[in-house]
Amino acid sequence: MTHPSSVPLPGVVTVHVNGEAAQVGAALHDTLLTVLRDRLQLTAAKRGCNQGVCGACTVSVDGVPMRACLSLAHNCQSAQVRTLEGLLDCPHMQALQAAFASTGAFQCGFCTPGMLVSARSLLQRDPDPDERAIRTALSGNLCRCTGYVKIVAAVQAAARSLLAEGAAS
Ligand code: FES
Ligand code: FES
Repeated sequence: MTHPSSVPLPGVVTVHVNGEAAQVGAALHDTLLTVLRDRLQLTAAKRGCNQGVCGACTVSVDGVPMRACLSLAHNCQSAQVRTLEGLLDCPHMQALQAAFASTGAFQCGFCTPGMLVSARSLLQRDPDPDERAIRTALSGNLCRCTGYVKIVAAVQAAARSLLAEGAAS
Protein backbone atom coordinates (compact mmCIF):
# COMPACT_ATOMS: atom_id res chain seq x y z
CA MET A 1 0.00 0.00 0.00
CA THR A 2 1.31 3.42 -0.92
CA HIS A 3 1.85 5.81 1.94
CA PRO A 4 -0.50 8.77 1.58
CA SER A 5 2.37 11.27 1.78
CA SER A 6 3.95 9.78 -1.36
CA VAL A 7 0.82 10.21 -3.46
CA PRO A 8 1.19 13.30 -5.67
CA LEU A 9 -1.51 15.84 -5.00
CA PRO A 10 -3.51 16.74 -8.08
CA GLY A 11 -2.44 20.10 -9.43
CA VAL A 12 0.63 20.35 -7.23
CA VAL A 13 4.25 20.08 -8.32
CA THR A 14 7.39 19.92 -6.26
CA VAL A 15 10.18 21.87 -7.89
CA HIS A 16 13.73 22.25 -6.69
CA VAL A 17 14.74 25.81 -7.38
CA ASN A 18 17.90 27.56 -6.23
CA GLY A 19 18.61 24.84 -3.69
CA GLU A 20 15.17 24.74 -2.11
CA ALA A 21 12.18 22.50 -2.68
CA ALA A 22 8.87 24.22 -3.22
CA GLN A 23 5.39 22.81 -3.64
CA VAL A 24 3.25 24.96 -5.88
CA GLY A 25 -0.03 24.65 -7.68
CA ALA A 26 0.41 23.89 -11.36
CA ALA A 27 -1.85 22.54 -14.05
CA LEU A 28 -0.49 19.81 -16.29
CA HIS A 29 0.07 22.33 -19.06
CA ASP A 30 1.87 24.90 -16.90
CA THR A 31 5.44 25.48 -17.95
CA LEU A 32 8.46 25.79 -15.71
CA LEU A 33 8.53 29.47 -16.66
CA THR A 34 4.98 29.96 -15.40
CA VAL A 35 5.82 28.30 -12.11
CA LEU A 36 9.01 30.33 -11.67
CA ARG A 37 7.55 33.70 -12.56
CA ASP A 38 3.90 33.48 -11.59
CA ARG A 39 3.99 31.14 -8.59
CA LEU A 40 7.43 31.69 -7.07
CA GLN A 41 7.92 35.32 -8.14
CA LEU A 42 11.34 34.54 -9.57
CA THR A 43 11.15 37.00 -12.42
CA ALA A 44 14.72 37.12 -13.73
CA ALA A 45 13.81 34.61 -16.43
CA LYS A 46 11.79 36.62 -18.91
CA ARG A 47 8.72 35.65 -20.90
CA GLY A 48 9.59 36.84 -24.36
CA CYS A 49 8.26 34.77 -27.23
CA ASN A 50 6.94 32.01 -24.93
CA GLN A 51 7.51 29.53 -27.73
CA GLY A 52 11.14 28.54 -27.54
CA VAL A 53 12.68 31.05 -29.93
CA CYS A 54 14.21 33.98 -28.04
CA GLY A 55 16.03 32.42 -25.08
CA ALA A 56 14.92 35.16 -22.67
CA CYS A 57 13.54 32.49 -20.35
CA THR A 58 16.80 30.53 -20.11
CA VAL A 59 17.48 28.90 -16.75
CA SER A 60 19.89 26.21 -15.64
CA VAL A 61 18.33 22.74 -15.35
CA ASP A 62 20.71 20.14 -13.94
CA GLY A 63 23.54 22.44 -15.00
CA VAL A 64 22.40 22.84 -18.59
CA PRO A 65 20.84 26.02 -20.02
CA MET A 66 17.21 25.29 -20.90
CA ARG A 67 14.27 27.30 -22.13
CA ALA A 68 11.84 27.38 -19.25
CA CYS A 69 8.94 28.20 -21.57
CA LEU A 70 9.32 24.85 -23.31
CA SER A 71 9.57 22.68 -20.19
CA LEU A 72 6.46 21.46 -18.44
CA ALA A 73 6.72 22.01 -14.71
CA HIS A 74 5.45 18.51 -13.98
CA ASN A 75 8.36 17.09 -15.97
CA CYS A 76 10.96 19.04 -13.98
CA GLN A 77 10.19 17.66 -10.54
CA SER A 78 13.36 15.59 -10.29
CA ALA A 79 15.59 18.34 -11.70
CA GLN A 80 17.70 20.95 -9.96
CA VAL A 81 16.69 24.31 -11.38
CA ARG A 82 18.71 27.48 -10.96
CA THR A 83 17.53 30.87 -12.03
CA LEU A 84 19.67 33.97 -12.23
CA GLU A 85 18.53 34.83 -8.70
CA GLY A 86 20.16 31.63 -7.47
CA LEU A 87 23.42 32.15 -9.35
CA LEU A 88 24.38 35.56 -8.03
CA ASP A 89 27.00 34.19 -5.63
CA CYS A 90 28.75 32.24 -8.39
CA PRO A 91 32.14 33.79 -9.31
CA HIS A 92 31.46 33.20 -13.00
CA MET A 93 28.18 35.07 -12.74
CA GLN A 94 29.73 37.91 -10.77
CA ALA A 95 32.49 38.28 -13.37
CA LEU A 96 29.93 38.23 -16.17
CA GLN A 97 27.70 40.80 -14.52
CA ALA A 98 30.64 43.13 -13.92
CA ALA A 99 31.83 42.71 -17.51
CA PHE A 100 28.35 43.26 -18.96
CA ALA A 101 28.08 46.46 -16.95
CA SER A 102 31.54 47.80 -17.76
CA THR A 103 31.29 46.87 -21.43
CA GLY A 104 27.79 48.21 -21.91
CA ALA A 105 26.57 44.84 -23.16
CA PHE A 106 22.90 45.58 -22.69
CA GLN A 107 20.43 48.28 -23.54
CA CYS A 108 16.86 47.37 -22.61
CA GLY A 109 18.19 44.42 -20.64
CA PHE A 110 15.35 42.05 -21.47
CA CYS A 111 17.65 39.42 -22.95
CA THR A 112 20.35 39.85 -20.33
CA PRO A 113 19.31 37.29 -17.67
CA GLY A 114 19.10 34.53 -20.27
CA MET A 115 22.38 35.66 -21.84
CA LEU A 116 24.08 35.53 -18.45
CA VAL A 117 22.83 32.02 -17.68
CA SER A 118 24.01 30.74 -21.07
CA ALA A 119 27.35 32.56 -20.81
CA ARG A 120 27.97 31.19 -17.33
CA SER A 121 27.44 27.67 -18.58
CA LEU A 122 29.92 28.31 -21.39
CA LEU A 123 32.61 29.66 -19.07
CA GLN A 124 32.18 26.70 -16.75
CA ARG A 125 32.89 24.21 -19.51
CA ASP A 126 35.32 26.39 -21.51
CA PRO A 127 37.26 28.93 -19.42
CA ASP A 128 38.89 30.57 -22.45
CA PRO A 129 36.39 30.55 -25.31
CA ASP A 130 37.14 32.21 -28.62
CA GLU A 131 34.64 34.45 -30.37
CA ARG A 132 33.20 31.60 -32.39
CA ALA A 133 32.58 29.51 -29.26
CA ILE A 134 30.90 32.45 -27.55
CA ARG A 135 28.65 33.18 -30.51
CA THR A 136 27.74 29.51 -30.77
CA ALA A 137 26.96 29.24 -27.05
CA LEU A 138 24.77 32.36 -27.20
CA SER A 139 23.16 31.57 -30.54
CA GLY A 140 19.92 30.61 -28.82
CA ASN A 141 19.69 33.94 -27.00
CA LEU A 142 18.33 36.71 -29.17
CA CYS A 143 19.03 40.39 -28.54
CA ARG A 144 17.10 43.08 -30.36
CA CYS A 145 19.23 45.97 -29.13
CA THR A 146 22.96 45.48 -28.99
CA GLY A 147 24.15 43.82 -32.18
CA TYR A 148 25.96 41.23 -30.02
CA VAL A 149 29.44 42.77 -30.39
CA LYS A 150 29.52 44.11 -26.84
CA ILE A 151 27.98 40.93 -25.47
CA VAL A 152 30.79 38.89 -27.00
CA ALA A 153 33.33 41.39 -25.68
CA ALA A 154 31.80 41.15 -22.22
CA VAL A 155 32.04 37.37 -22.14
CA GLN A 156 35.67 37.58 -23.29
CA ALA A 157 36.37 40.16 -20.57
CA ALA A 158 34.74 37.97 -17.93
CA ALA A 159 36.81 35.00 -19.06
CA ARG A 160 40.02 37.03 -18.83
CA SER A 161 39.09 38.29 -15.41
CA LEU A 162 38.31 34.80 -14.10
CA LEU A 163 41.53 33.40 -15.56
CA ALA A 164 43.52 36.25 -13.98
CA GLU A 165 41.92 35.53 -10.62
CA GLY A 166 42.43 31.79 -11.01
CA ALA A 167 38.70 31.28 -10.53
CA ALA A 168 37.93 29.87 -13.95
CA SER A 169 37.43 26.27 -12.92
S1 FES B 1 10.35 33.04 -23.78
FE1 FES B 1 11.21 31.06 -23.86
S2 FES B 1 12.40 31.05 -25.67
FE2 FES B 1 11.36 32.98 -25.73
S1 FES C 1 19.51 44.42 -24.52
FE1 FES C 1 17.50 44.65 -25.33
S2 FES C 1 17.08 42.68 -26.13
FE2 FES C 1 19.14 42.55 -25.55
